Parts: sequence; C-alpha cells; structure tokens
Amino acid sequence: EEEVVEKIDYVFKVVVVGDSAVGKTQILSRFAKNEFCFDSKSTIGVEFQTRTVTIQGKLIKAQIWDTAGQERYRAITSAYYRGALGAMLVYDITKRQSFDHVARWVEDLRAHADSSIVIMLIGNKADLTDSRAVPTEDAVEFAEEQGLFFSETSALNGDNVESAFIRLLEEVH
Ligand code: GTP
Repeated sequence: EEEVVEKIDYVFKVVVVGDSAVGKTQILSRFAKNEFCFDSKSTIGVEFQTRTVTIQGKLIKAQIWDTAGQERYRAITSAYYRGALGAMLVYDITKRQSFDHVARWVEDLRAHADSSIVIMLIGNKADLTDSRAVPTEDAVEFAEEQGLFFSETSALNGDNVESAFIRLLEEVH
C-alpha cells in the first residue's frame, strides 16, 4: 500500500445506494477484498473501503462508501453524496420492490449529488435465477430512459462485479 500511495493519480469517491438487504455491502467486499461473508450484518451508519486499480495507464484509488439501506427513509445526508463522482445503485433481482424503489434513489441522487455523477444500475443476486422477479429487459429499459449504465451481478459468485466497477471508474475517468 505504502509504495502505491505515492503514485496515485486520482482518488475517486463512489457511493453505493439501494434498499436494505440488496447486497450493497457484499458487492463492495467482493470488489475491494474479493470476499463474500455469509453472515453479514445490516450496515450501521456509513463505512468505506478502497481498492486501487489501473485505468488507461492511470492509478486510480476508488474510495467506495457504503451505507445502510434503511437510511433511505431518513434521507441520506448530503455529506454522503458530497464529492461522489460515481454511484452504484443496487436492487435485488428477486425483490420486485427493491427495483420499484430505484426511481426514488435516482431522484435522491439527482437532488443531492453532483449533476455529473455517473450512475450504474446494478441488479444483484443474479445467481438466484429460480427466484427472479425482475426481468432484465425492465431494467435495461429503465436504465436507457434515465441514462444509467446497467449490469446484473452476483456478489456471491463474483459474476460481473469487477467489470461493473471498472466500467463505472472508466466512465468517471
Ligand atoms: P443493508 O446494510 O441493510 O443496507 O444491506 P445490504 O444492501 O448491504 O445487503 P448485504 O450486503 O448485507 O446482503 C444482504 C443479504 O443478501 C445477505 O444475507 C447476503 O448474504 C445476501 N447476498 C448479498 N449478495 C448476494 C448475491 O449476490 N447472491 C445471493 N444469493 N445472496 C446475496
């Protein structure tokens, strides 16, 4: 870490938002540490993790902020969004309600985050194919309407997690 720090070209703040229990913390742990924790607790307050990646020859330190999904109903403070260049907006493909709430999260981001923030819509738990409640096409359509990037991921098996973060960081860069 110490040697890397000196060479960092940019630090990008990314926030992860979405309803409670959609897998925000697990997606972040998968990306930052390549870990999945089977007995994860609901996030209390705000936490962040970092990972340094090379994008187009530049060393970029992603500082990724995670908060409790319940915060949605207590209005996330503008401090959480302040300075964020990217957002991962996560829903659970097996919970229709978490997708129905995505529009409200977009409103929140548009109201409180910088207008140039890059938003990546993430349909997580893609490994649970038998319990799917949100067709991919619905999410693709919504993402197109709203100008969001979109990916389906599984924090459990790791599918698309890395590529979604890298894509977001590339777009920010
Ligand atoms: P809050 O902190 O309450 O906002 O929740 P969160 O969105 O951070 O969810 P968290 O990462 O704690 O995951 C919630 C539950 O979903 C946990 O039981 C995880 O093990 C499970 N989970 C997370 N990601 C996946 C996934 O990709 N696949 C499956 N099958 N389960 C997952």
